[in-house]
Amino acid sequence: MKKACYKSTFAAKISINSMTEKEILRIAIQKSGRLSEDSIALFKECGIKFDVGKSKLMSPARNFDAEFLFLRDDDIPGYVEDGVADLGIVGKNVLVEYGKDVSVIKELGFSKCRLSLAVPREIDYQDATYFEGKNIATSYPNLLGQYLQSKNIKAHIHEISGSVEIAPGIGLAEGVCDIVSSGGTLLSNGLKEVEVIFKSEAVLVSNKKLSAAKEELLAKLLFRINAVQAAQAYKYILLNAPNDKLEEIINIIPGMKSPTVMPLAKEGWSSVHSVLKESDFWENIEAMRKAGAEGILVIPIEKMIL
Ligand code: PRP
Ligand code: ZN
Repeated sequence: MKKACYKSTFAAKISINSMTEKEILRIAIQKSGRLSEDSIALFKECGIKFDVGKSKLMSPARNFDAEFLFLRDDDIPGYVEDGVADLGIVGKNVLVEYGKDVSVIKELGFSKCRLSLAVPREIDYQDATYFEGKNIATSYPNLLGQYLQSKNIKAHIHEISGSVEIAPGIGLAEGVCDIVSSGGTLLSNGLKEVEVIFKSEAVLVSNKKLSAAKEELLAKLLFRINAVQAAQAYKYILLNAPNDKLEEIINIIPGMKSPTVMPLAKEGWSSVHSVLKESDFWENIEAMRKAGAEGILVIPIEKMIL
């Protein structure tokens, strides 16, 4: 019922839009849940202004040819496949489970979680053969089915749409297969994670047949997303170094092309400016300090155009 309702609301609005001459990108994001906050933050960091409200189903962007649809994550792949939405942000878990025919544009690196098998804490679990002949409750029958098949395990998949973690407690199943992020849900339901069967993160997907105008908008959006993500992966670094140590220090931080080196007022010293990968950050800082760098300042980068 609910789904049909959403669909007809969007279909009506979309036919109104298609009568106007300008093409806009319709972007589906999760209404509430694991992905929604980070998805909204990503578009805001891309400089796109739009309103978000609990009761909103749809929100036009004020400064980009786009509008946002706020949906249940499970429905997003289907809407993108049908072309009700042009783009969507969805968990890889949902995308693979539903097997919809959409293009994966980019892995976004946020909302990381895993699909795991879990059993009651008191079980003396050895390996996956524990599940042979058992009942497993899940909302992911396809991913679980593939896993069981790959391990040659025959188990009964009991498909339920929510609150999977209570299934063992009420005698519905001997194990569950569900999304784990912090692990808090499993813990508070007396369960322990025993096998990771799928690793997930947010991905940007698109409809397979975008018009040329929409492809152009997507390229513009991707340019911004890449700049935001590059900035998040790097830090700007400034430091002072004695001139005779410059070469050694510069070798540690090659920067984008090559670091900027400027003389300090103090004789024999220079200031070095560069960018550093967040992932190698501490290791490089240690090495630079050892090599004689002083007064190291590390500054976040807002946008980075490579
Ligand atoms: C998953 C899962 C648990 C929770 C686990 O739900 O069903 O309820 O997340 O997270 P934790 O390990 O941090 O406690 P999800 O957010 O995917 O909701 P949905 O199934 O309604 O989409
Ligand atoms: Zn969901």
